Amino acid sequence: MTKHITILLAAATLLLSCHPNLQKSSRSEREMNRYISALMHKMTLEEKVGQLSLPVGGDITTGEPRLSNTAEDIRSGHVGGLFNLKGAEQIREVQRIAVEESRLGIPLLFGMDVIHGYETIFPIPLGMSCSWDMDAIEHAARIAAIEATADGICWTFSPMVDISHDGRWGRISEGSGEDPYLGARIAEVMVRGYQTDQLADSTSMLACVKHFALYGAVEGGREYNFVDMSRYRMFNEYMAPYEAAVKAGAGSVMAAFNVVEGVPCHGNKWLLTDVLREQWGFKGFVVADYTGIEHLQDNGVTPSHELAAIQAIQAGLDMDMASSAYQTLIGAVRNGKVSVATIDDACRRILEAKYKLGLFEDPYRYCHPARRAVVRCAEHREAARKIAAESMVLLKNEGNLLPLAKHGTIALIGPLADARTHMAGTWSVAAVHEHYKTLREGMADALQGTGAELLYAKGSNLMYDAEQEGIISIFGHDIRDSRSAGAMREEALNVARKADVIVCAMGEGSESAGECASRVNIELYDAQRDLLAALLKLGKPIVLLHFAGRPTVLEWESKHVPAIIETWFSGSEGADAIADVLFGDINPSGHLTTQLPHHVGQYPFSYRYYRTSRPNTGGTFGKYSTCYQDVSTYPLYPFGYGLSYTDFEVSEPVWTKQAGDTIGIISTTITNTGHREGATVLQLYLSDPFSEGVRPYIELCGFERISLKAGESQIVTFAITPDMLAYYNPKGIKTIEPGEYQLRVGLNSRDLSKPVIFQL
Ligand code: BGC
Repeated sequence: MTKHITILLAAATLLLSCHPNLQKSSRSEREMNRYISALMHKMTLEEKVGQLSLPVGGDITTGEPRLSNTAEDIRSGHVGGLFNLKGAEQIREVQRIAVEESRLGIPLLFGMDVIHGYETIFPIPLGMSCSWDMDAIEHAARIAAIEATADGICWTFSPMVDISHDGRWGRISEGSGEDPYLGARIAEVMVRGYQTDQLADSTSMLACVKHFALYGAVEGGREYNFVDMSRYRMFNEYMAPYEAAVKAGAGSVMAAFNVVEGVPCHGNKWLLTDVLREQWGFKGFVVADYTGIEHLQDNGVTPSHELAAIQAIQAGLDMDMASSAYQTLIGAVRNGKVSVATIDDACRRILEAKYKLGLFEDPYRYCHPARRAVVRCAEHREAARKIAAESMVLLKNEGNLLPLAKHGTIALIGPLADARTHMAGTWSVAAVHEHYKTLREGMADALQGTGAELLYAKGSNLMYDAEQEGIISIFGHDIRDSRSAGAMREEALNVARKADVIVCAMGEGSESAGECASRVNIELYDAQRDLLAALLKLGKPIVLLHFAGRPTVLEWESKHVPAIIETWFSGSEGADAIADVLFGDINPSGHLTTQLPHHVGQYPFSYRYYRTSRPNTGGTFGKYSTCYQDVSTYPLYPFGYGLSYTDFEVSEPVWTKQAGDTIGIISTTITNTGHREGATVLQLYLSDPFSEGVRPYIELCGFERISLKAGESQIVTFAITPDMLAYYNPKGIKTIEPGEYQLRVGLNSRDLSKPVIFQL
């Protein structure tokens, strides 16, 4: 390489100062600084440290707020915010204690895990990402903010932007899959949806980007496990979504439970200060994950909570969560171990967030019970139903079995067919399950007046092992049936015999994924597999509606079941949305953002695999090539894959060189060659065949969701700019190397056009 065009990282800081939230800076920022300086001038050390504390609503949620211990702490100025309190009236009362009964009247932040909706629940984030619909995802975040703020909440611990290449990790359900480019785009729109560009609007809430950093790469997919990777990989594969969220103006960032480069994130100065603040220009505050500071002791890097607190605050972690570790900072300052300036910086950042939210102006801006009318309103539910349908991925449709006609007799079978509390999916903290339909109810509604008959049998429990099933029933999602497996199966077979078609609602339970839900066997649970096998023997058409919170192994199912829809956990309106797709009122358009493996042993893996020595061709065993003897190197269903009830054809792309800032335009024509209207996702992949650092064979660098009527065509163009070619070279410098590049288009990552080739 003769010359490298290096994008100076300082440019990132410049860009940040152009963000609309921060543009208004000059005057209003000066006013804010003056206001906060005057306030801090009056604050005691105890009150400043108090701002750094975020206890759980705890006794307040159940007890009389005024009398609880937490209330007493609020009164004494020892609390900066609370989390998991719900309800405008309740929150108003607690805020009143802070504002009217504490010495300086500083308002509290009220945070909650509003991860994929509030009471209107959207699909789990992994599912939602499969829509590739940025407008809809932003709208979902907007609706979540409108509902949560109507109920008193002003801060959400979302978006979760951890990239993961490991289906064993249960929290893969909370993120946007495996790709950093797509992940970054989703991170941006989610921040915008929550915060808007008017953070002080009473329907906006502060976003919190989490978990910083690399949480999705825990070894073996085991929750909270060690993470170790090169900076090369870190910056090329994992950091983009965090950075994009920061650049989109996210007001807070949450530290991750794991270790990065040998140092726990909660005490990692390189991560929390050098990268986040100095390199990316982050201006908000960093919050710990739940008791995360205390875990420095579990990690064995500090022998006491006091030393953990010192390491964390000096690393740049501003707010403690659910622990009292930061209380020890008062002593640490008095003993000269921590400077007052360090405490001041952290306190100022938290006060700034309160100021930007407008809480000093009106601490009760989120506390108007009348606003609750908007919660779960028809418009929100309609939006949730639409994106739930868009999130579903049609994996297989042999003989065009789907969509089902609304006539004849349909047998609905499976432990998830009538399981209300499993519909919303993991991390649905504000869910009101009794308001959500079961799939059986959704299908019955869809069939009303058609003359079609819907039969039902549960057929099996989630799995044979009651103790294992108990593990995933911790939030009351217990649907276990006390009948014997044989009796349940017999009943299901009898029901199925009467039907023209069998629809199976099977898969994981909602808490099979999520936090602390790592699994090494990610195949369909035993009892359901046996039931499915028995049903298949009846020789009738079978559709599998597969509920999942992660990519699972569907090797056996894909061989034996003619039609499969990956429904994920599709939220409060999921039952209607599944019926919409099943009966063809909506044509499925979801495309996988995490590829499905043939075998769990393929993990960690991603479509974005690096060029190796002794490459493998064809995905099967080849002596002295990079492969497995006993399983393909390819996925069962690749990244970007998803079928439709119609067909699409993509023409070979054409390259037109440009002068100026755009290097060229790639264009292709996409045609709906089938008989129904439908949508699909056109994907653009970049290859850099020769580079200083080894790069993946292909990397997603653009996409477009397109809707077409039957027979309709559309020309799609992507403008290629130099920044799209950039990567972090082995020296850690973001670089665009001259030379050859290739671009391919397609409707999934394995089935691509011939490359267009250009030189830079
Ligand atoms: C999770 C976070 C969450 C926090 C508060 C932790 O266990 O890792 O994602 O925001 O709890 O509920």
